[in-house]
Amino acid sequence: MVASQRTRDLCRTVRLKSTQVFIVAGTCLITVLITLLCIGFMTRYEVENEVANVADVDYWKDRVAALQKIWYDKGIEELNEALRTPSGPVYPRNLRIFVVQGIDGRDLATHRFPAREISQGNVNFVWDQYSHLARLKNSCSQRFPCPVGGLSRAFWTGIPLEKSVEMETECKQMDNQTDSLMSVLRQAQLAGLRTGFVTTQRLTGSTGAALYGNSLYECDERMPMGFLQSGCQDVARQLISGETGKALNVIIGGGRQMLSKLVPQTQFDPVDELLCQAGEGRNLLKEWRNQKLKQSKIRPIKFDLIQRTDELESLNASRYDHLMGVMANGDLSGNPKAPSFKLMVEKSLEVLEGKKQGYLLIVEQVREKGVNSRRQLQILNDTLVSLPKDRDTLTLVLFTNGIYPKPSLDISEETETISYLSEIFNEEEIRLQERLQQMPSESLLFAQGPRSTLFVGLRNETYLAHAIAHVLSMSKLVAKL
Ligand SMILES: *[C@@H]1O[C@H](CO)[C@@H](O)[C@H](O)[C@H]1NC(C)=O
Ligand SMILES: *[C@@H]1O[C@H](CO)[C@@H](O)[C@H](O)[C@H]1NC(C)=O
Ligand SMILES: *[C@@H]1O[C@H](CO)[C@@H](O)[C@H](O)[C@H]1NC(C)=O
Ligand SMILES: *[C@@H]1O[C@H](CO)[C@@H](O)[C@H](O)[C@H]1NC(C)=O
Repeated sequence: MVASQRTRDLCRTVRLKSTQVFIVAGTCLITVLITLLCIGFMTRYEVENEVANVADVDYWKDRVAALQKIWYDKGIEELNEALRTPSGPVYPRNLRIFVVQGIDGRDLATHRFPAREISQGNVNFVWDQYSHLARLKNSCSQRFPCPVGGLSRAFWTGIPLEKSVEMETECKQMDNQTDSLMSVLRQAQLAGLRTGFVTTQRLTGSTGAALYGNSLYECDERMPMGFLQSGCQDVARQLISGETGKALNVIIGGGRQMLSKLVPQTQFDPVDELLCQAGEGRNLLKEWRNQKLKQSKIRPIKFDLIQRTDELESLNASRYDHLMGVMANGDLSGNPKAPSFKLMVEKSLEVLEGKKQGYLLIVEQVREKGVNSRRQLQILNDTLVSLPKDRDTLTLVLFTNGIYPKPSLDISEETETISYLSEIFNEEEIRLQERLQQMPSESLLFAQGPRSTLFVGLRNETYLAHAIAHVLSMSKLVAKL
């Protein structure tokens, strides 16, 4: 009896001890696990946020002269910046492309030292800090004047300027044809992205034409009768009826006079006599509205057409499926009542970001005559700074320049005067040097965000469209996540 009692006690003690052992072992195990997790997180955090630290970077610090060392130490910051590897997703969900027409590397360099006093240091633009930069060979440095339509097609459809100019025929059939050019905008739509286009020019200008049209004619006015009858379309018509134009989620710019015959005229917003004007009876704005109304009967959509700055300002754009803003009769640039560049970009992003889908936004800023390019760059800088930072977004800023023909009533005049530099340059050496000074330099393409690594080195103009096509094909998968 006594023995069995003792055995029972012993058993109880042992059981108690084993429970304690379990608790202790369990605690140890959990501690180890938590420590491991913490180490994991810390390492990941450090990899993602590689801290710039002078001590991290190897260089010949002990061997350079003291006089040099000051500058080497200062230079470490920039070197660290370059050494930092970008983190985040491999392919972007969204693309924002800013294209500035009429400003090139030479202008950027000029405005970097505004006071002409180098001692005051230089001015940085926000794109100067982007991680990647490519130079694009500029076909326009070879041509006076530069056929801006062909150049835009090179950028947005990926066909070289020479070929694209050769292919130009006066009549382009319906947008519907299988052999019509597919722009990056259409590719994005087919990849399931939301799309938008904003311009400080007119919606029917060369960029618009390359993105959603393919016509030589901005509007119907000067199109030969036979063309219209055989189903040829002008850019304004293609914007409203073409597949790409119809699917656009947001579009803001000028060009009311190409879309509608009857337009209000004011001192600030006259009809631009040098540009095309809609033919008798045309009202494509009304047509756009009717088209969207019809569409919303099948599937409810929210859309609006706005024509004044205050309308754009007060708009809660985040709920829209389609927004069209036609803000002036002609170009927006030079029109004091036109909405600011920043407002147009912000509202467009509101529309595009409103839904759970990736997007492609193309924004064009055309250098205004009479406005200095420094002011223009500052506006772009301020706008880019104000945009929300987003790890999923690839941002491209393209600067390109050429000697473009002035708008002219006669379209043939524009295309016939094209000739090569060498033919014009039958002049003396000094003159030639002067001309070379004025020659547009190569285009610069600054890139930031996922896959910005694609944009390095010296590339063809057409590379832009080809690289975007690749990114879009991958973003298609990302957009679905
Ligand atoms: C551009 O924006 C950055 C960041 O706000 C600012 O530091 C810089 O001075 C701006 N550059 C110009 C030319 O305004
Ligand atoms: C495109 O072409 C098809 C047949 O070729 C036609 O049924 C359709 O209506 C056309 N779409 C447009 C927008 O013209
Ligand atoms: C805009 O609309 C969204 C969605 O309906 C809403 O959540 C938001 O509060 C609105 N913003 C303003 C400023 O009215
Ligand atoms: C760039 O374009 C030129 C002329 O069209 C072509 O010969 C060349 O192969 C292109 N370069 C690359 C890298 O594609």
